Amino acid sequence: MTNDKLSSLIDRQLSSYLPRRGKLAQAMRYSVFAGGKRFRPRLCLATAKALGKPATSVLPIACALELLHTFTLIHDDLPCMDNSDYRRGKLACHKKFDVAIATLAGNTLNTLAFTILVAATKKAQVIIEIGQGLLEVLAGQVEDLAYQGKNISLRKLKQVHQQKTGALLLACVRSVGLECGASPKQLKALSAYARYLGLAFQICDDILDATSIREILGKPVQADKEKGFPHFIGLKKSGELAVAEQQKAIKALAAFGPQADQLRKIAEDVVNRKK
Ligand code: IPE
Ligand code: IPE
Ligand code: MG
Ligand code: MG
Ligand code: MG
Repeated sequence: MTNDKLSSLIDRQLSSYLPRRGKLAQAMRYSVFAGGKRFRPRLCLATAKALGKPATSVLPIACALELLHTFTLIHDDLPCMDNSDYRRGKLACHKKFDVAIATLAGNTLNTLAFTILVAATKKAQVIIEIGQGLLEVLAGQVEDLAYQGKNISLRKLKQVHQQKTGALLLACVRSVGLECGASPKQLKALSAYARYLGLAFQICDDILDATSIREILGKPVQADKEKGFPHFIGLKKSGELAVAEQQKAIKALAAFGPQADQLRKIAEDVVNRKK
């Protein structure tokens, strides 16, 4: 499936889940369709493929994860958090609407995602994985706010990045793995892949924050200046670390055949991306 076809498949399904009437619906639709990369749904579909299952079989789970991700972005941008005015190339939800509506839109996306999940799977563990992943993200966001401007160890920095960003990517891969009946060995390999991928993803987010421009990135730059990897270890080392994590991610898939090529491609794209 081409990238464009994949995007429209995901977007059509996302739209089918979102209400159409009222201000809350408007705010949710505004943020969900503002132009995200759909990285998490793609990761879900590629995981299903690696396990020999049709991508469409996990489309509801993939969409629920994108809705959860959008919820975390809306709240991440709020004045009480990162205070960012732009997201996905547009005004942030709280600027387009207001803080109250943005807060409620985030809460509603969160609730909606879990109602989709309950209907989408017969396996409780799938939903538990995603719930646990989201709890990690939220804990990571608390840590992220707490260390801004302070000196922390590289180990702690990695841990916060794993939590605030890596945990949802891990939830994508593990929930789909469980839904698709992955063996314990396969699940272990996929989890290792996702952990490396998550760290590479957030290091690159920090690098882009330090080196890109808002017109390309679609969100304010220099926003994570005092808490990103480049601030602590410099740009060069950050780039090297991202590549090292990417390579470890690909290596973790060694036992999978060409069915996992999309997962490998995703890991390559993470490091080469411009936004
Ligand atoms: C941004 O995620 C937030 C982080 C976890 C770094 P993405 O870079 O996937 O943002 P969208 O979904 O494309 O807008
Ligand atoms: C955000 O990290 C992680 C979550 C939204 C959970 P950032 O604050 O670095 O994300 P951006 O740079 O605003 O997208
Ligand atoms: Mg943040
Ligand atoms: Mg932010
Ligand atoms: Mg960032």
